[in-house]
Amino acid sequence: MEEQRHIEGERLQKVLAEAGIASRRGAEELIRQGRVSVNGQNVTALGTRVGPDDEVCVDGQPVDRDIGPVYIVLHKPRGYISTVRDTHGRPSVLGLVPVKTRLFPMGRLDADSEGLILLTNDGGLGYQLTHPRHAIPKEYLVLVEGNPTDETLERLRYGVWLEEGPTAAAEVSRAVTGGEGVWLRIAIREGRKRQVRRMLAAVGHPVRRLVRTGIGPLKLGALPVGKWRFLKGTELAELRGAATEAAVPLVIAIDGPAASGKSALGQALAARLGWLHFDTGMLYRALTVLAHRRGIDVHDEDSVAELAHQARVSLVRPGNRTGASARVVVDGEDVTDELYTQAVDADVSAVAANEEVRRALLPRQRDIANQGRMIVVGRDIGTVVLPGAPLKVYLDASAEVRAMRRQQQFEANGQVVDREDLLADLRRRDRYDRERPNAPLAVADDAVVLHTDRMTLEEEVEVVMKLAKERFPALALGAPRRGG
Ligand code: DC
Repeated sequence: MEEQRHIEGERLQKVLAEAGIASRRGAEELIRQGRVSVNGQNVTALGTRVGPDDEVCVDGQPVDRDIGPVYIVLHKPRGYISTVRDTHGRPSVLGLVPVKTRLFPMGRLDADSEGLILLTNDGGLGYQLTHPRHAIPKEYLVLVEGNPTDETLERLRYGVWLEEGPTAAAEVSRAVTGGEGVWLRIAIREGRKRQVRRMLAAVGHPVRRLVRTGIGPLKLGALPVGKWRFLKGTELAELRGAATEAAVPLVIAIDGPAASGKSALGQALAARLGWLHFDTGMLYRALTVLAHRRGIDVHDEDSVAELAHQARVSLVRPGNRTGASARVVVDGEDVTDELYTQAVDADVSAVAANEEVRRALLPRQRDIANQGRMIVVGRDIGTVVLPGAPLKVYLDASAEVRAMRRQQQFEANGQVVDREDLLADLRRRDRYDRERPNAPLAVADDAVVLHTDRMTLEEEVEVVMKLAKERFPALALGAPRRGG
């Protein structure tokens, strides 16, 4: 075969297409227009064959037949597989593209799914774009069975429990609905196997059609089904930019002792940045609420640990999604409003000191934080949960100032408390937090320590915003955010 090919050569239009000059049709057009030459001779006959050593030029420019990286955007039809070979004999998307270099898909699309797929021979970019930890968001239009309620859309946004655990937050909205039924627009960062289909099946609305419409900044646009085009240079640059941005986790870790104002700062920063405020203390508090409800003694370590492993504690993005605090849902029930009572305050330290509880909550916190664009607040975030966070702040304040702040917090919730009681309680908790064997309160080596006794919240926000601008230059923080 190889030898025969050598003797006969290859058809000129095929050589041009394989070199990435144009599609096969486009190459024929170039030949007809007399813009192609072989060994200095103009060629207009379409059947012309050329050998590997013949010099082919287009518009006088030699064609590099040792092609470099090739990037192709394809609108995958349903029924095609995105791998090279299939045991069921189904056609491969590679057959739709006339470029002969060894292409592979960046991120697979199931045979029964359609839409945007990127094919390349550039393994480096493929790895960057599909790395599960920092994958860039992929957008889908999904035709579903039935008509999901707003509540169901909220569930999809917050994360759905699949066999292997909860999904990360998704962006979900209704798309313009055609005659076929209800279409949703869904963007996810994770790329688990058949994830969108499984998410929708889990909420009772199986998928009838699934069309990928975007990979980060790249959009399918009006490319017809089954057609392909080369990726433009600007699109490639944008994709690389998105992948680079995704590789720097967009998280700010804020740690500090009890009542140091971490949550207030986290909320204020979230509002400024349009990010989510994730207060990890809420997870420990939620478990405490759950223990109380089930009549479990918080000092019964085994029972509390079991609770931590079993409970489906998940973070919920509030309906208003800019700069708001997450809510906490336990086993399907929103417990956010029960988290800040004196009863929980009294018991939560014991829950948080339980090593097995911390072990159970660790991956959950990391999963949530990996969604990015988040202010993660706690007391072991910079040290244990997210040691790679690009910006870590440790907030400190004297016990007196913290007692005053906590009193104001209670009063804002309509609860009357004694300042001296609070101060004694804080001192006791500080001592306990510093000295406890499990996860004692510590300052990360690379954290910026802020002493806040004489700082207003606004001043704290300004300091951290300045640091954030340095650490996340790609975000152009402070500039108005683009829609989306
Ligand atoms: O910040 P907070 O008061 O809401 O925290 C509740 C409890 O959980 C408190 O005892 C500290 C503990 N906690 C922890 O141990 N690790 C975290 N990352 C967050 C909170």
